[in-house]
Amino acid sequence: PELFPKFSEELEIVDNKMGEVQGVPLPEATCEIWEQIYNFQAREDDILISTYPKAGTTWMQEIVDLIMLDGDVKKSMRSPCFVKVPFIELYPKPMPSGVQAANAMESPRLLKTHLPTQLLPPSFWEKNVKVIYVARNMKDCMVSYFHFQRMNQALPHPGTWNEYFSKFTAGNVPWGGWFDHVIGWWKIKDKHQILFVFYEDIIEDPKREIRKISQFLGKELREEVLDTIQHHTSFSTMKENPMTNYSVLPSSVFDQSISPFMRKGKVGDWKNHFLVAQNIVFDEEYQKKMEGIGLNFRTEL
Ligand code: A3P
Repeated sequence: PELFPKFSEELEIVDNKMGEVQGVPLPEATCEIWEQIYNFQAREDDILISTYPKAGTTWMQEIVDLIMLDGDVKKSMRSPCFVKVPFIELYPKPMPSGVQAANAMESPRLLKTHLPTQLLPPSFWEKNVKVIYVARNMKDCMVSYFHFQRMNQALPHPGTWNEYFSKFTAGNVPWGGWFDHVIGWWKIKDKHQILFVFYEDIIEDPKREIRKISQFLGKELREEVLDTIQHHTSFSTMKENPMTNYSVLPSSVFDQSISPFMRKGKVGDWKNHFLVAQNIVFDEEYQKKMEGIGLNFRTEL
């Protein structure tokens, strides 16, 4: 708990400048230490959660942490989600970088990344690390990212919804384009130990997905444990949990009065944002880009 006031003081000044690595927009601080990030040393028993931003990363972190802990809720609340799961490519100056945090951590480690496949530190492939990739339909991702860029002072301001719509569809947002990311990970999923999970599927049947994830991790959990994990990782529980709702971060970083981190947690909120004309343009472009990929998302349940 002593850690938190310190966080607040040190994080008063927030830098939202962006740079890029191989054409992918990333925070400037990330670019500064890119060599270190790219040379990150994975360990065989690491578990990596990989996502495009806003696809359900935090949700998956909680699910996997609880699976590893056999459903021990008390232990899962040992520290905030962003402390217990290092975000490898983040460098929230003057706090330690994700690489430093991960290096200092005992195994087995749970790690987080938003990097597209071409930028992932090669050590993850070399060590054949298990990866859980969470994918969320592009329309809801766009809406969620729009609100996130409004409240996250460490990212550029998104502008109006109309402006953001163009930026996002062009891939001109932090961590680059949704298409490159999702298609890239989809295409390599059978070459490595990658479990591809859909946000919409977890919403539809959380217990089924939690069971699938635990089996992928080599764990057979009892029904009661699956129920406990399902309950503890529900949207309403995570919204109230200070270890998962990011309320321990000061408003100079996440201004939750603009938009809460645990915002809606639904499939189909895009319908409250997309204009009819935008939806037509979007669907056309989307179909062209996704043709023949074999990757199908649900945008409503
Ligand atoms: P919304 O903005 O649509 O509500 P990430 O963790 O990758 O940043 O993703 C955040 C998104 O996942 C937010 O979406 C957030 O509300 C949603 N989310 C977080 N925990 C969730 C849960 N337990 N159930 C459903 N959605 C959740």
